[in-house]
Amino acid sequence: MRFAHRHLLGIEHLSQSDITEILDLAETYVDMNRQSTKHSDVLSGLTQINMFFENSTRTQASFELAGKRLGADVMNMAMQASSIKKGETLIDTAMTLNAMHPDLLVVRHPHSGAVDLLAQKVNCAVLNAGDGKHEHPTQALLDALTIRRAKGRLHRLNIAICGDVAHSRVARSNLILLGKMENRIRLIGPPTLVPNQFAEFGAEIYGDMNEGLKDVDVVMMLRLQKERMDGGFIPSEREYYHRYGLDAAKLAQAKPDAIVMHPGPMNRGVEIDGTLADDINRSVIQEQVEMGVAVRMAAMDLLARNLREAA
Ligand code: NCD
Repeated sequence: MRFAHRHLLGIEHLSQSDITEILDLAETYVDMNRQSTKHSDVLSGLTQINMFFENSTRTQASFELAGKRLGADVMNMAMQASSIKKGETLIDTAMTLNAMHPDLLVVRHPHSGAVDLLAQKVNCAVLNAGDGKHEHPTQALLDALTIRRAKGRLHRLNIAICGDVAHSRVARSNLILLGKMENRIRLIGPPTLVPNQFAEFGAEIYGDMNEGLKDVDVVMMLRLQKERMDGGFIPSEREYYHRYGLDAAKLAQAKPDAIVMHPGPMNRGVEIDGTLADDINRSVIQEQVEMGVAVRMAAMDLLARNLREAA
């Protein structure tokens, strides 16, 4: 069974074997990226357009590097300066770009579902780089690769996802992926940020960090997504850090070899202690960034193979 998808819109559409196939191929790109010459021509002749309707540092840079290292012609659309500002709709913009025959379209958008809608209108392969609170599939895949490399497996682990789950597409995609790979997931945070409905994903919900972190293998911290809040979710950042910020004392509840993750960008001193985030013995935050490039190379490589087969 090989990866047979036209787009990468969400983890919800992937099977266990799809996930494993992407991660296995990404391993080969991790090796390539560590060489001094990092170039392949698997995307040569193909055009990749990155459309980010929301700010991004690492995801956009990582997709751009991934495409360039595989030999694609890569263009970043400056969406702040584009016709969207003049009132053109998302679909009009997409149709305009579609007429220029791109092969891969990488899209980030503030509205959940916007990337799926766009994928129905264009002829090329679409990769979701984050849509609202919905999905961020390449983030979950890079997290999975980081966990698999650190723990030697990606199943039957106890994994805690902590903080602002309610507003997080990272949490949603990770819940789906880690659940498909048969892990035990705990969600930890105040009820305003971890509503009970998340139990639907098969996760256990904890309101207390010290209880929730007991004996976990992986601690995944989330950014407090202030831009998606309309006030009233937390009493104050100080209070939040005290109860839910990850520091050495709370981490001591986890397994002694538990790893600490964060998708970035971090609010140091709000959801995580800065010293702990930089502790290379516990934190794999830099590895996550490294795995991000490799996973995006693998995803675009697999989609391009399907494009070429369909042509
Ligand atoms: C995440 C995102 O944009 O969803 N960042 C990222 O892609 N590395 C998480 C966040 O913004 O907190």
